[in-house]
Amino acid sequence: MNTRRPTPTAPSLTDGPAWHALQEHVRALRAMHLRELFSSDPARSERLTLEAAGICFDYSKQRITDETLRLLLALADEAHLAERIAAMFAGERINRTEHRAALHVALRAPPGADIRVDGINVVPQVHEVLGRMAVFAGRIRGGEWRGHGGRRIRNVVNIGIGGSDLGPVMAYEALRHYSARHLVFRFVSNVDGTDFAEAVHDLEAAETLFIVSSKTFTTLETMTNALSARDWLLARLGGDAAAVARHFVAVSTNARAVTDFGIARDSMFGFWDWVGGRYSMDSAIGLSTMLAIGPGNFHALLSGFREMDEHFRHAPFGHNIPVLMGLLTVLYVNFFGAQTVAVLPYEQYLKRFPAYLQQLTMESNGKHVTLDGVRVDYDTSPVFWGEPGTNGQHSFYQLIHQGTRLIPCDFIAFGRPLNALGRHHDLLLANVFAQTAALAFGRNVEEVRAEGTAEALVPHRVFEGNRPSNTLLLEELTPAALGKLVALYEHSVFTQAALWRINAFDQWGVELGKALAQRIVPELESAAEPVLTHDGSTNALIRRYRRMKG
Ligand code: F6P
Repeated sequence: MNTRRPTPTAPSLTDGPAWHALQEHVRALRAMHLRELFSSDPARSERLTLEAAGICFDYSKQRITDETLRLLLALADEAHLAERIAAMFAGERINRTEHRAALHVALRAPPGADIRVDGINVVPQVHEVLGRMAVFAGRIRGGEWRGHGGRRIRNVVNIGIGGSDLGPVMAYEALRHYSARHLVFRFVSNVDGTDFAEAVHDLEAAETLFIVSSKTFTTLETMTNALSARDWLLARLGGDAAAVARHFVAVSTNARAVTDFGIARDSMFGFWDWVGGRYSMDSAIGLSTMLAIGPGNFHALLSGFREMDEHFRHAPFGHNIPVLMGLLTVLYVNFFGAQTVAVLPYEQYLKRFPAYLQQLTMESNGKHVTLDGVRVDYDTSPVFWGEPGTNGQHSFYQLIHQGTRLIPCDFIAFGRPLNALGRHHDLLLANVFAQTAALAFGRNVEEVRAEGTAEALVPHRVFEGNRPSNTLLLEELTPAALGKLVALYEHSVFTQAALWRINAFDQWGVELGKALAQRIVPELESAAEPVLTHDGSTNALIRRYRRMKG
């Protein structure tokens, strides 16, 4: 695949005619209120609602006109978005700084597909690993795989961090409804010993399986937790090192480090350097997910990803949900000065979805230089954050409604509940619709006065409105629906990166802190007083800590 000609390099985002036209256009747009946009155009809601891949995407409450869309699409053309999408799907090494493909779409390709890296079709490898995962999942779920002492495995602890944790824990929580309830799942990520201690405090070692998940198998946190897990297990199982084989499996691209740890090659589930950590929840990194929901549901999850991939790849940009979402983010960041985007799932099972998206969005697009290494003269990724509704309404929505910042919101909701309970779901959905309407249309001075509000209170009770949101409405939170949602955000992030000309697939920004920590560890642990050569503040903190620990 890498014989293709490289995709053309786009001129700087701010150089093309679309940028200048958008700047001009947004000057007028800022003065337009969503009230007017709706009242002057009865067909607006219908025209700006898309149905694709089982998602109803209502973006009519965005501060856009047809002209805004036309200019955003022109901006996408100037960025060669179509070519960049084709390059990703073709397995080109679009992660230029690491000289790698970014081929997570191959993880959910059907068995017969042909997607090549260096001339080799990777799809059979993907399905070989999926097959081994399914066999293993069947043995754990069915009680056939036994612990060292012959007891059934009842507890599964995933040890990993970043993409080797956030995807698994998010998917487990999101799909808990479908999970094998006779198994207990725990997730350990933090090097803070409390995370491990609390995760295992009530578990029987003889019934516990650890999945050590790490793409590199060198990550400080994961290796430290894995060694503590081994000590914990052996201390409880009589110290017989042979027990490790029955209680540890690994998910990694680093076979040598896995065997050095003492985990047999047979108990390792591999993936590849063309899968980025934050794009890996549908690779073997999803082993805990498959153990929880079973191979059939895992394949349904993959089919959801695939459906969104196909939509992203083939739908015209004006009818392409991830492209439109990505373009809207660019609009608010670069033309309205928005600093953040709130993601608000009205579905309790998606409580870890915003946390998952933090890594996906910000580790991907938190970049300050272009693919060519030139410092950008525009903002890149906003801060993504959020909480499930309706909880957030009683916490931070005040700022979204009446604060001084523009915060575009994504509302995510489902037509049917997984736990039907009296009126709960109607009340939940009423709140989704009410919030998006209140944000968009607000309540003006005249309306507040007409309610008989005391004059002194009028300014306090005014809602300016004109606060934009997307509403994503799906039928039900199924495994396939989750796959669609994750792929949707993956491709929206890709779209943003293409417009910003940045590499969404490296993460050099995490390195400096890691290297400094490695240098500081011996300074904290040495018996003799170390010679410290950091800045004054860091030296003083290290000295104080050493005194504290005695
Ligand atoms: O430190 C950042 C990071 O490299 C992430 O990109 C990655 O998801 C995480 O660490 C974990 O890495 P690994 O799976 O190699 O342990």
